[in-house]
Amino acid sequence: MKVLILNGSPRADGNTSVAVAELEKTFAIEGIETETIRIGSMNIRGCIACGSCGEKGRCVFDDAVNEIAAKFEQADGLIVATPVYYASANATLIACLDRLFYSSHFDKSMKVGASVAVARRGGCSATYDELNKYFALSSMPIATSQYWNCVHGRQKGEAEKDLEGLQTMRVLARNMSFLIKSIALGKEKFGMPETEEHVWTHYISE
Ligand SMILES: Cc1cc2nc3c(=O)[nH]c(=O)nc-3n(C[C@H](O)[C@H](O)[C@H](O)COP(=O)(O)O)c2cc1C
Repeated sequence: MKVLILNGSPRADGNTSVAVAELEKTFAIEGIETETIRIGSMNIRGCIACGSCGEKGRCVFDDAVNEIAAKFEQADGLIVATPVYYASANATLIACLDRLFYSSHFDKSMKVGASVAVARRGGCSATYDELNKYFALSSMPIATSQYWNCVHGRQKGEAEKDLEGLQTMRVLARNMSFLIKSIALGKEKFGMPETEEHVWTHYISE
């Protein structure tokens, strides 16, 4: 069982990396493999709405997004961790997620999602809500913790002192491990939920 972690920080060894390290340690104890990709300093452009992914199932820009999509397809869970910029996620991360979720057409249902926001002081819960929206329209259950998944710190490494934030990360990793294992058992015992063809109405009435 494997969790893919996207770290949206451009800072190597920044506070988001501190939060991610706590997750990785706890997943290892729980017997869940992790792979972390730090995308905050990558050159990832936004979606241009060309629609070519509608036919190809992959993005027209053949960069890290298509590589991440292949890893996401194999993973049982996805964690998206980001520094907070102006009460929002890092812009490169958002460009990546827009293109990742829009262009990839594999079934994401019952892969477990979780988001983590890291800030000096404010905007964590707005960012947490922003990131959870990608999971919520993909039939992905969202793993939670004892508090909203936030860690605080400004200068590199300050997050080490946010003991409550780090505990929130450990509880999140344990809860997410439990969900992933339980879903695997549930698939064996009950099978996946029945699906329907998606009805698209675009709010246009005849
Ligand atoms: C462009 C920019 C905008 C920021 N906006 C916020 C903000 O809205 N709220 C906040 O508390 N911290 C803000 N910060 C501080 C970072 O969230 C904080 O330093 C965080 O620890 C960075 O994580 P990192 O070390 O993983 O990059 C901002 C930092 C930058 C560079």
